Amino acid sequence: MSRLVVVSNRVAVPDAQSATAGGLAVALRDALQSCGGVWFGWSGKTAAQTAETPSITEIGPVTYATLDLGRKDYNEYYNGFANRTLWPLFHYRLDLAEFSHENYAGYLRVNTLFAEKVRPLIGDDDHIWVHDYHMIPLGRELRALGIEHPMGFYLHTPFPAMEVLLALPSHALLVESLCAYDVVGFQTENDLRAFRDYIVHEANGEELDATTMRAYGRLVHTEVFPIGIERGQMEAAAERAVEQGAARRLERTLHNRSLMIGVDRLDYSKGIPDRFKSFERFLELYPAHRGQVSMMQIAPLSRSEVPEYKNIRDTLEGQAGYINGRYGDFDWMPLHYLTKNFQRETLAGFFRLSRVGVVTPLRDGMNLVAKEYVASQDPQYPGVLVLSRFAGAARELDTALLVNPYDHDAVAAALNQGLVMSLEERRERWQSMMAKVRENSLEHWRERFLKVLRAVPTPMALQS
Ligand code: G6P
Repeated sequence: MSRLVVVSNRVAVPDAQSATAGGLAVALRDALQSCGGVWFGWSGKTAAQTAETPSITEIGPVTYATLDLGRKDYNEYYNGFANRTLWPLFHYRLDLAEFSHENYAGYLRVNTLFAEKVRPLIGDDDHIWVHDYHMIPLGRELRALGIEHPMGFYLHTPFPAMEVLLALPSHALLVESLCAYDVVGFQTENDLRAFRDYIVHEANGEELDATTMRAYGRLVHTEVFPIGIERGQMEAAAERAVEQGAARRLERTLHNRSLMIGVDRLDYSKGIPDRFKSFERFLELYPAHRGQVSMMQIAPLSRSEVPEYKNIRDTLEGQAGYINGRYGDFDWMPLHYLTKNFQRETLAGFFRLSRVGVVTPLRDGMNLVAKEYVASQDPQYPGVLVLSRFAGAARELDTALLVNPYDHDAVAAALNQGLVMSLEERRERWQSMMAKVRENSLEHWRERFLKVLRAVPTPMALQS
């Protein structure tokens, strides 16, 4: 089997921490381990200047190659264009998107540099798989360097509706860059539809069949590959963790009260302020639950140098203080708000203890927490998932209590419904969700994408 070259902003180099690495990192590492290859990207570290040569770690048949980023590149590429322009735009937050020519130049500069640095590591028969919004122009840069290998791109975030994307001054080059890949994968039909709309209505391209588009003189295979979680991993972790220290201690502090749980990176796309408002409405509208149920929101800090992330932190601290001050009692705290990070296994135990999982992003590519919550449940006494219809996961987990996160009263009603739901209904809903989680595992996602990439006729450009 031909080797694989993976390029992504973050690289999960195995180290002493690797036992705790999960999800995507493990799935991509496993793929690389079985066919050999390279994983290239940012080291996660900054330096005065961007490194000239990548640091190389060889483990078995896999080469991990990472570059430290200089402060300017880090600010303009990562904090700037990737996280202050593309991220908010792709999550439909035009109000938060910042357009700066310096940041855009930095984004292109880092992509050009990554292409130059990964180029010598690419072997003749390799397949190339590029990940996420940080790296959209990379494929085009590689083509400019003469790389005609099969190249796939997977977008982990939503792809925005054309009308939203058009607000980006550099939208044309971005979409043209996507068409430099042979395969472009999306999380949901919605994302794929938005991409097709752009190709047909804005880029003067055409849809040749269900999966092939022609645009910018190239053919592109486009398909939906909903991402999943590792097969069996969360179930086993939850079973173990629920018997152990942290989960036991949590259970003791509950004094037989019910727990509702939210776990998200501290990001405005996750809808945590709206979730807190909904929880407040829940306490107001369903007073019988006061003193009987607590909500625990775990929100590890993320992208802390980006101003919008600092702002949301301030908002949440204010809201949590207000809710606890107004509704709490000397022996009951309604809302536990933590920005601390927990290991996935510990979280699995917390999920299993929680009667309701609250996953209410305003927009999310997939949201794997929803799937992890489902997988962590005790099959005999499963909890209830309250899930935003704007999470990609809502497509598959359609027996969750689907909500509009902007409608606080409706979310409050769903929280109540989750708490009072019969065991029979909980089981029915859970079984149907669990079947989907099992079927569409992370391994399945990876194998499906690689199969398409390996089968794609290349170079696609010659066929147009
Ligand atoms: C999202 C993105 C990933 C990113 C992750 C964490 O899931 O799709 O590409 O790695 O957030 O964000 P960070 O900025 O810390 O890498």
